[in-house]
Amino acid sequence: MGCSSFMMMLSFFLIFVSTVSSSAPLTVGFYKRSCPPAEAIVQKHVNKFASRYPGLAAGLIRLHFHDCFVRGCDASVLLDGPTSEKESIPNKGSLRGFEVIDAAKAELELHCPRTVSCADVLAFAARDSASKLGNIHYPVPSGRRDGRVSSVNEPLLSLPPPFFNATSLRDNFAAKGLSLDEMVTLSGAHSIGISHCSSFTSRLYPATDPSLDPKYAAFLKRKCPPKSRVDRTIHLDSITPDCLDNKYYAGLKANRGVLTTDQVLQSSPLTAKLVAENARNNGVWGKKFAAAMEKMGGIEVLTGKQGEIRKKCRFVN
Ligand code: HEM
Ligand SMILES: *[C@@H]1O[C@H](CO)[C@@H](O)[C@H](O)[C@H]1NC(C)=O
Repeated sequence: MGCSSFMMMLSFFLIFVSTVSSSAPLTVGFYKRSCPPAEAIVQKHVNKFASRYPGLAAGLIRLHFHDCFVRGCDASVLLDGPTSEKESIPNKGSLRGFEVIDAAKAELELHCPRTVSCADVLAFAARDSASKLGNIHYPVPSGRRDGRVSSVNEPLLSLPPPFFNATSLRDNFAAKGLSLDEMVTLSGAHSIGISHCSSFTSRLYPATDPSLDPKYAAFLKRKCPPKSRVDRTIHLDSITPDCLDNKYYAGLKANRGVLTTDQVLQSSPLTAKLVAENARNNGVWGKKFAAAMEKMGGIEVLTGKQGEIRKKCRFVN
C-alpha cells in the first residue's frame, strides 16, 4: 500500500489520550460483554471491501462525517427513503460505502441480534478505514444509539458546502464543537477519495480561479470539460489517492487543492500556519487526525435509552 507506518507509537499515544479525555457517555469497549466480536466483525468487512476497492474506505470516512454533522452521529445518514438525508444535494450520488455497513451489520445480527447500533458500526468502520489507508489507529468510544429521523433538508443546513471561505468553515465546525485546528486537520481526509467535477467546476468556468496552479488548472479542465453531460470524478489527491497522509497539505502549498474549501486553507491567513504545520510532519498530523476523528464521533450522540438499535441500518425498526 505504500503508506508510511508510525502505528505503534501512535496507538500507545492514543490509548493514553483517550483514557484522560474520552468524551463522557460513550465508552471504549462498550460491547466487550454484550457482543465481544463486534469490532472485529466490522474490521473484517472493512478490510475485505477496502482491499478490493480502497475508495470505499474513503467513502466510509466521509459517511461518518456526514452522519455526525447532521443530527449527531446517529446513523441518520444511513436511512433509506424519498426524503432522507441521502437524497440531499451534498449526499446524493456521491456518498458510498453503504454496502460495507450492510454486510457488517448483517453478520452482527447473526452473532448478537439487536445489540450493536448502526451509528457505532459506522464509527468503527471509519476508524478501520483510517487504519487501512493511513495506518492511523485510535480507539472508538461506543454506545451510540440510532436515530429514527432523517430529513432531506438538514444536510444542506449543517454540512459545509465546497465554496465556503475560511471564516465560514471555522464557524461551521465551531457549531459542532470543533476547533479551527481540528477543522484543518480533518480536511486532511481529502488526501483520499474522489470528487465529482460538479463540486469544483465553478473554479474552472467561466474563469479560472487565479489561486489554482496553472498546470493543475489545465489538468482539471482536461478531466472536467465544460458542459460535459456526465459528471466525471477525479482523485482529491492525485499523487497518493489511496493513502491517508499529509501529502494533501503539500498539495495545498503547491496550489493544487481541488475544492475552494481546500485551497482556502492555504490562502487564508487564518489557517495557512496550520497547513504548514500539518505539511511538515505526517506523524503529528496523524495523531491530531485520530484525536479529531474521535471527537467528531462524539457529536450530539444518542445514548442510554434514547433512540433505538436498528435491525437494519437502512430502516427504522
Ligand atoms: C471542511 C469542509 C469540507 C467540505 C466543504 C467537504 C466537501 C467535500 C466534497 C464536495 C467532496 C467531493 C464530493 C463529490 O463530488 O463526490 C468531498 C469528498 C470527501 N470528503 Fe469532504 N468536505 C469537508 C470536510 C471533510 C471531513 C471533515 C471529512 C472526514 C473527516 C471529509 C471526508 C471526505 C472524503 C473521504 C471524501 C472522498 C469521498 C469518496 O471518495 O467517496 N471531508 N468532501
Ligand atoms: C466569508 O463569507 C461570509 C459569508 O458569505 C462573508 O460574510 C465574509 O465576509 C467572508 N469572509 C471573507 C474573509 O471573505
